[in-house]
Amino acid sequence: MNAALLTVAYIVSSTLFILSLRGLSSQETARRGNLYGIIGMATAVVATTLCADLDAYASLIGALVIGAGIGAVMAARVAMTAMPELVALLHSFVGAAAVIVGFASYLGPDDGHVGSRTVLLIEILVDVFIGAITFTGSVIAFLKLRGSVSGKPLLLPARHALNLAMVIASIVFGVMFVQAEGHTGLTPLLVMTAIAGVLGVHLVVAIGGADMPVVVSMLNSYSGWTASAAGFMLSNDLLIVVGALVGSSGAILSYIMCRAMNRSIWNVIFGGFGADPPPGAAKAAAAQPVGDVKEVSLDQTAEALRAAKEVIFVPGYGMAVARAQHAVQQITEILRKQGTNVRFAIHPVAGRLPGHMNVLLAEAAVPYDIVLEMDEINDDFPRTDVVMVVGANDIVNPGAQTDASSPIYGMPVLEVWKSKQVVILKRSRGAGYAGVDNPLFYEPNAAMLLGDAKKTMDSLLGKLRGE
Ligand code: TAP
Repeated sequence: MNAALLTVAYIVSSTLFILSLRGLSSQETARRGNLYGIIGMATAVVATTLCADLDAYASLIGALVIGAGIGAVMAARVAMTAMPELVALLHSFVGAAAVIVGFASYLGPDDGHVGSRTVLLIEILVDVFIGAITFTGSVIAFLKLRGSVSGKPLLLPARHALNLAMVIASIVFGVMFVQAEGHTGLTPLLVMTAIAGVLGVHLVVAIGGADMPVVVSMLNSYSGWTASAAGFMLSNDLLIVVGALVGSSGAILSYIMCRAMNRSIWNVIFGGFGADPPPGAAKAAAAQPVGDVKEVSLDQTAEALRAAKEVIFVPGYGMAVARAQHAVQQITEILRKQGTNVRFAIHPVAGRLPGHMNVLLAEAAVPYDIVLEMDEINDDFPRTDVVMVVGANDIVNPGAQTDASSPIYGMPVLEVWKSKQVVILKRSRGAGYAGVDNPLFYEPNAAMLLGDAKKTMDSLLGKLRGE
């Protein structure tokens, strides 16, 4: 394949990646977006492989088949709830690949690169630095999400000074690397890589488990920038474009998530995020929940739903674990048939990954037009007869507004307690992901329907059908 054809293939791939991102921005077009991404990536891989001056096709195809096979099995097996773990693991591969390619570019023959040697060395440096941070940071995020490493933030004394010292040390070794003759810069490059790796670990261990989604999204962004740096290093335009797309979309998603949780993006980048209460929090008194936790029976819930004109379902992580979405959809259908206005309120960080609830509800064929974002529906709770909280906890915690000592203080929440009646489906009175008590359980208009969400929803469905 000649260079002109390769350029055309790269332009086609870049366009498909942009269309893919656009498609993924809404549920209706997400499948098409995914397809564009697959075709774009296949085009890129085939064109690059055919154009490269290769004599080792057998090993390349072998590696592709093994890699694709492992990826397909992992993707098919992964539970929706474990998706952030998988994403974190995949980011670590991008980071590791960037480091390896950086070293290979340095130690390999200096051919085909556009620009001076100093520029190449700086590109290698940036690629390896961000790649090492992405690699170790993603491994820690993976272990935290899996529960192999504690979700609690590890806050070393003077951690910001420590981070700054590591950045300065990386710059010093980086300068030594760029100034070194021949391949004598290998030692400073290795030292800088080790420091960047420790920095990646330190940045992520300092962040609380509840804030991991933003971290994974930030690491996604880092993996994009590192790919972009690799693109400059290898003089590969497509890698530059794709890296920039991933880097900027990851950064925008992180920003949106931070805004949804009322957090500062700079705290994420510099660590310690989710550890300290927000400014002014210390002055306010912690509100302790008061009162008794009430329970409600299946019959009472069915009766309340039959009588209701306005119902809102608030799905959370528990619905995903229990796989209760199909029963929820069937109940929705019955209620809509009887003339009830049923809607779904989706918190931006409900579940364990962005869009988690939307995917589950789409899978269960809940109509898109009754699935609303938090901002669209939060004002409607006061005129709602029954709110069904299905396996959600932190996202409906009024303490986020009232308890300044709470780790989730300041995070916008769905104001379900303002409705006439709240039914909370979960298995116990236990805390949610952030590990904090939920004053909602003690509200006079709230009651618990204890049990596994799927079993409870199935039984409720039976009651509503009159079985
Ligand atoms: P959580 O606060 O984690 O609460 C989920 C609740 O579901 C738990 O309290 C649990 O109570 C209940 N549950 C678990 N299994 C259940 C089952 N089989 N049947 C019924 N209930 C079950 O979830 P949320 O309200 O969706 O909030 C999300 C949290 O996760 C936030 O803190 C967010 O920051 C964090 N997070 C979000 C993401 C993204 S991007 N969405 C990623 C990582 C973390 P019981 O044990 O009593 O049943």
